[in-house]
Amino acid sequence: MTAIKPERPGAKAEPAPPQAIKGTHDILPGEVEKWQALERLARETFELYRFRELRAPVFEPTELFEKGTGATSDVVTKEMYTFTDRGGRSLTLRPEYTPSVVRAIIEHRLDLEGAPMRYYFMGPMFRYDKPQKGRYRQFHQIDIEVFGEKDAAVDAEIVDMAHALLGKLGVTGTETLVNSVGCRACRPPYSAALREAAGKRLADLCPDCRRKAEANPLRIFDCKIEACREIAAAFPSIQDFICRECREHFGELLASLDVLGIPYRVEPRLVRGLDYYTKTTFEIVSPALGAQNSLLGGGRYDDMMKDFGGPDICGTGFAMGIERVLSVADLRAPARRLLYVAHLGRAGREAGLALARFFRGSGVECLMEFKDRGMKAHFGRANKLGADWVLIVGEDEMAKGRFGLKAMATGRQADGTREELLAVIRES
Ligand code: HAM
Repeated sequence: MTAIKPERPGAKAEPAPPQAIKGTHDILPGEVEKWQALERLARETFELYRFRELRAPVFEPTELFEKGTGATSDVVTKEMYTFTDRGGRSLTLRPEYTPSVVRAIIEHRLDLEGAPMRYYFMGPMFRYDKPQKGRYRQFHQIDIEVFGEKDAAVDAEIVDMAHALLGKLGVTGTETLVNSVGCRACRPPYSAALREAAGKRLADLCPDCRRKAEANPLRIFDCKIEACREIAAAFPSIQDFICRECREHFGELLASLDVLGIPYRVEPRLVRGLDYYTKTTFEIVSPALGAQNSLLGGGRYDDMMKDFGGPDICGTGFAMGIERVLSVADLRAPARRLLYVAHLGRAGREAGLALARFFRGSGVECLMEFKDRGMKAHFGRANKLGADWVLIVGEDEMAKGRFGLKAMATGRQADGTREELLAVIRES
């Protein structure tokens, strides 16, 4: 731990209090309720489409991402949290989820089960990028993946599912961008055309893009530098290069989006930052977000499973950034009702313990604090906490076996056995 400099010469250095790592965040009570609501709505929505949760480890062998996410992607070349463990293995904190799902399918032969291969997941991802609004080093994704469906209609269906969820979250004013990045047949001629175009502007491109021009010119479109973006805007469009099969697939995608009534814009420069995409790519963006405007992004990756040495099964999916979606969502934490136990004396404390357990067992959120307070202080505290009711457990009440219940909003007071008071709470 670093030490804070002593203010006065000779004074002892105090250890600096610990702090969260830059680009990571605590999600505190008050905020976390929105996360819980979002997670609940996401589960409900995805399960309506017969998706099931698949949880994979937070770290994986580094080569999984090198091979899956792609050796020429920014994520792999610049952003991974990679470390060597005590056994000398290179491991990486997952920067995305897609390669992990593909690995899990192959490892457990989920393709042989006959169940629809539709999976969802939510959890933290790790990328070492420069933190700014909407871009963090530990961020959270909700990810969905579908396997074994070649038809472009399923790409449209998952875009529709994303909109269904965004609608429930109260996110409005989004735009849907779609593109086709072709396949292994039509991408090489396109890459060659890009390489040629980039070759003519090499001197004006940043060093990173110069390197990309050779290794994978498609990745020049991921550059965040304005000068490079302007140059790339004049590069040939993939839409002029895709083969017949990819063109038909793209036509099907647009037709299915029309059937579902989803407005979209074809964005020929939407190649997405990961190397695995084939045919469909899409993003849903929000102008309310500023520079990091992508709420979610995804597409098709028909070769990954085969490239991993597994069966030849195509995949398609998307991931949504939870932080970004929450920053534009209109979610209210659900109202919760609280019963506060005001206990007096040792006997009151003991009776209060048993009563609190009774009410909780009956589904009532109940708080008992073990401080010696007078009745007035108990009510002050209950008021401060916004409690809905106060249960009064004093000596008189115990002697009678009947307790007092005060409704804080109305001031109305009831008196009864614990069962009678439970009925009062349930009725109110
Ligand atoms: P991605 O575009 O890299 O795609 O990330 C998806 C979403 O995660 C972004 O749209 C954004 O909302 C969020 N996101 C990404 N990086 C950050 C960051 N540093 N801070 C905050 N939010 C971030 C994927 O990860 C693919 N695995 C999606 C996919 C699934 N494609 C097919 N299946």
